[in-house]
Amino acid sequence: MMGRTGVDGSVIDLTGKVAFITGGGGGIGRSIALCLADMGADIAILEVIPERCEQVAEMVEARGRKALCIAGNAMDVDVVQNAVTEAARHFGRLDVLANNAGGVTRRPFVDLVEKNWRRHIDLNLVSNLAATQAAVPIMIESGRGGSIINVTSIEASRAAPGYAVYAACKAGINNLTRTLAVELAHHRIRVNAIAPDYTVTPGTRGQFAGAVDPSLWYQPTPAQEEAIRRRIPLGRAGVDEECGRVALFLASEMSSYVTGTIIPVDGGTWASGGWIRNDREDWVLPPEATN
Ligand SMILES: NC(=O)c1ccc[n+]([C@@H]2O[C@H](COP(=O)([O-])OP(=O)(O)OC[C@H]3O[C@@H](n4cnc5c(N)ncnc54)[C@H](O)[C@@H]3O)[C@@H](O)[C@H]2O)c1
Repeated sequence: MMGRTGVDGSVIDLTGKVAFITGGGGGIGRSIALCLADMGADIAILEVIPERCEQVAEMVEARGRKALCIAGNAMDVDVVQNAVTEAARHFGRLDVLANNAGGVTRRPFVDLVEKNWRRHIDLNLVSNLAATQAAVPIMIESGRGGSIINVTSIEASRAAPGYAVYAACKAGINNLTRTLAVELAHHRIRVNAIAPDYTVTPGTRGQFAGAVDPSLWYQPTPAQEEAIRRRIPLGRAGVDEECGRVALFLASEMSSYVTGTIIPVDGGTWASGGWIRNDREDWVLPPEATN
């Protein structure tokens, strides 16, 4: 049987359901697509790199599910809204929306110009508003409810020097998540978010073009690996599938009474609140960190 039945009858079985994922061609978005396909969902993605569309379509179809991969830019409101509409028309329904497209360039706030802010806002916030506003009426009209999963960041909940506009957008997404959870509850549309910390993806490993190919990725030095180990309580970077699995929980009926939450998928970084491991494996606050 596809899916798993818990003691209370809750199941992770998405057979017959349809999910739409922005930026679904690589990294966390692709992992969400594949985790949901593994449990029976048909998948639509919007992806700006055409080769990644073909790659994900093949991976979804290899799992026995149907794929619709639309090449387009999530920063363009019309493109996003047309893609959501096309996906719902193509599959005849829409059950899950994962707002994943996002990204950041590091630069001090005072060095940014208006074009830079607007690019960050369009990619990280407007893309989310556009997809959500297109998907919600479809979910309401179906009478079946739905699940909206926003990919935010740990940077939404702490200061993020060099990433000011990105962090502001992600903080906006956190409160959008809570607000829409309440506004849409009576339609049985649940709205939740996952908040990753450092996760290995094409983006964090420097691949921004072409089909996903880990052989092209930048490899961190031992010193960088050690810095991650000291900073993240679970002692390593995240793996994209670890976000995909939490998204699967949020997409499924296993989370039927969960809405308005922001789930850290961060190896414990948010909980650690700045404590790091020192040379003796004790947890300390800087400046004691290297003693
Ligand atoms: N990886 C991390 O460490 C990390 C940490 C916190 C939050 N996040 C968030 O997770 C999300 C995914 O990040 P990732 O690391 O998987 O990124 P990634 O760059 O590895 O993958 C993102 C995918 O989205 C596509 N994409 C980018 N811009 C697009 C656009 N305008 N239109 C359509 N597709 C587009 C890319 O081509 C790529 O295939 C982002 O919202 C990011 O802010 C990531």
